[in-house]
Amino acid sequence: MQAIISKLSDLVGQAVTLKGWAYNFRSSGKIFFLQLRDGSGFVQVVYSAAEISEEQWESLNTLTIESSVEVTGVVKAEPRAPSGFELTGTGFGMIQRTEEEYPIGKKEHGPEFLFDNRDLALRTKTTWAVLRIRDRVFYSIEQFFHEEGFVRFDTPILQPTSCEDTTQLFTVDYYGDPMYLSQSGQLYSEAGIMTFGKVYDFGPVFRAEKSKTRHHLSELWMMDAEMAFHDQAMNMDVQERMVKRIVKDVLDHCAQELKILERDTTVLQRLVDEPFVHLTHAEAKRILKEEGLVTGEGTQDDTYWQDDMSTEEEIALGNKYKLPVFIENYPAEIKSFYMKRFTDEQGIVRARCADLIAPEEGREIIGGSQREESYEELKKEIIDRNYPLAEYEWYLNTRKFGSVPHSGFGIGLERTVRWISGVHHIRETIAFPRMLNRMKP
Ligand code: 4AD
Ligand code: MG
Repeated sequence: MQAIISKLSDLVGQAVTLKGWAYNFRSSGKIFFLQLRDGSGFVQVVYSAAEISEEQWESLNTLTIESSVEVTGVVKAEPRAPSGFELTGTGFGMIQRTEEEYPIGKKEHGPEFLFDNRDLALRTKTTWAVLRIRDRVFYSIEQFFHEEGFVRFDTPILQPTSCEDTTQLFTVDYYGDPMYLSQSGQLYSEAGIMTFGKVYDFGPVFRAEKSKTRHHLSELWMMDAEMAFHDQAMNMDVQERMVKRIVKDVLDHCAQELKILERDTTVLQRLVDEPFVHLTHAEAKRILKEEGLVTGEGTQDDTYWQDDMSTEEEIALGNKYKLPVFIENYPAEIKSFYMKRFTDEQGIVRARCADLIAPEEGREIIGGSQREESYEELKKEIIDRNYPLAEYEWYLNTRKFGSVPHSGFGIGLERTVRWISGVHHIRETIAFPRMLNRMKP
């Protein structure tokens, strides 16, 4: 019977056929241990010379790493095996014998080598585990939004204007005119809610920042959600429920993957049931300074209270609370033009926004805000920031014809997967990363 490794639990005692790749093997005389992977999982097949034909035994003994093979065997429960099962081999067939020595696996490789050979490195167990978690996060977000009555609304990747003026754009030649690769679908999603009420998009976005950190990609996947008749409190409530749902789904469905990655899930388990922390930007800055949690440059300056959150500060807050933290109401001038503003007691103009900081060095995984719904205010901001007003006319129509209070947010898929899977660098969380110093393969 043709089977797959992840479904062996129902087949104990039965003979099955598996197709896959030999990721490792060893032999000791008349016994041959084959480590097989088939995409769905990993299993050991134990052959003894006496149990299979001479011809197959000989073929088995010419096996090389990453040859493709077909095996038959009887499923046996094996509590010591990571999958819980083992196969007692009864048949072996080579599909393609890998002739060249497989470049990966024999010795320790540095990350540059592994990413130069990413097409092959994708086959390693840890990468398999991280990208399976990525798949689950994607699926979980899609499910969540459909259950909540959102409509998937795809936004264009080629855009004539900037969405996030705080980050850099990639310019492309569009039949002789400049166009930009999307930084976020948000502005288009705001037009989308005028027909569907609640929408989300999910796709690649591009950031030409010259950041070489373990949190930055040039090409990343973002999900933007946008909701009519939602204020910022309702917006944060949706985000909290979504993040809880994602984490719960990963814990429920990716136990094997988390084990392969040796992820301690204590903090993840806790946050599924506990309310997230809320701090204003001013409170966060005060706590960081008073408790001596940050020492970096700028903490002594008078402008410290107005500064953006640094990596060090986001990590310190995550470590302090060991829960996701919403940092609300940043000074408006360091945030995007579309955010709704208000003036606080100190007379500082602030944005009705929040970044969600993940604990365990997850950093900012979500950026969101209530949007300015007034046509006059928004137009003024576009002019004050010297944007080409004509290019934003279609966007301003959302405020001209039946404007409503509305809010939304964007979650970075790779930041989220990096945090949940616990890998060090964000490049591990996407199949073929694009970064400042990496555009191949
Ligand atoms: O905070 P950002 O820039 O927000 C927006 O783009 C809004 N228009 C979203 C919205 O309201 N619809 O980006 C959102 C998220 C960040 O919180 C982060 O998780 C991720 O996108 N992100 C990056 N991830 C990896 N590498 C980068 N260079 C990233 N830039 C943003
Ligand atoms: Mg942001």
